[in-house]
Amino acid sequence: MGRIEELCAYLDKCRTLADVGCDHGYCTEFALDRGICERAVIADISAKSLSKAQKLLAPYIEEGRVKSVCCDGLEGIDADVDEVLIAGMGGEEIIKILSSAFIPEKFVFQPMKNAPLLRRYLIERGCAIVRDDIIEDGKYYFVIKGERTGKMAEYSEVELEFGRDSLKNPIFASYAATELEKKQTYLGGCCEGAECSSLKRQIALLKEALGA
Ligand SMILES: C[S@@+](CC[C@H](N)C(=O)[O-])C[C@H]1O[C@@H](n2cnc3c(N)ncnc32)[C@H](O)[C@@H]1O
Repeated sequence: MGRIEELCAYLDKCRTLADVGCDHGYCTEFALDRGICERAVIADISAKSLSKAQKLLAPYIEEGRVKSVCCDGLEGIDADVDEVLIAGMGGEEIIKILSSAFIPEKFVFQPMKNAPLLRRYLIERGCAIVRDDIIEDGKYYFVIKGERTGKMAEYSEVELEFGRDSLKNPIFASYAATELEKKQTYLGGCCEGAECSSLKRQIALLKEALGA
């Protein structure tokens, strides 16, 4: 399975999906084609990116099932949209988007980096993370699915770092082994100060997650 298909498996069946940072529009196309959503709002800060999605989704736009908005983050999205997907951006960028607008009722985020920062941000604001997993398509990606409010058991430091469901996912071991090797190599080639302490902390967490 490719990343788009794996990622879309985390979406709930809904009436309207907002795909923020849609770029080419492949996620929305997949969700509409498979009946995951009936309608969609595609949004991107770049008019050039948005035009790729508009081209791909032209039949759906003509049918009135897709609306496109060129905007920064959630600025042009109704807060009552059923579900929001933000994939392929950094965790800090996703936090910036949420902070300057709203936390959606239901969301699926796939941060390219800084997933722990995003998890912490969501938990501190009372969100319920309902799936916190890892997917693989040549590279590894974290997927965080959640709801604006709700209860869940407290996260440990290792869960904050890697996600709760990731740790039980069979692909996690190969992710962690790859990361461990990379970070141990960086550590051998460096290091002093904050960068070194951060690497050592990450190595310790990876070992803990692997049960090593
Ligand atoms: C790497 S692409 C990801 C495309 C798609 N979501 C996916 O996962 O395949 C990132 C897209 O996010 C858009 N983007 C970056 N920052 C944004 C923001 N603040 N608001 C809306 N779109 C943004 C970029 O223009 C780009 O099209």
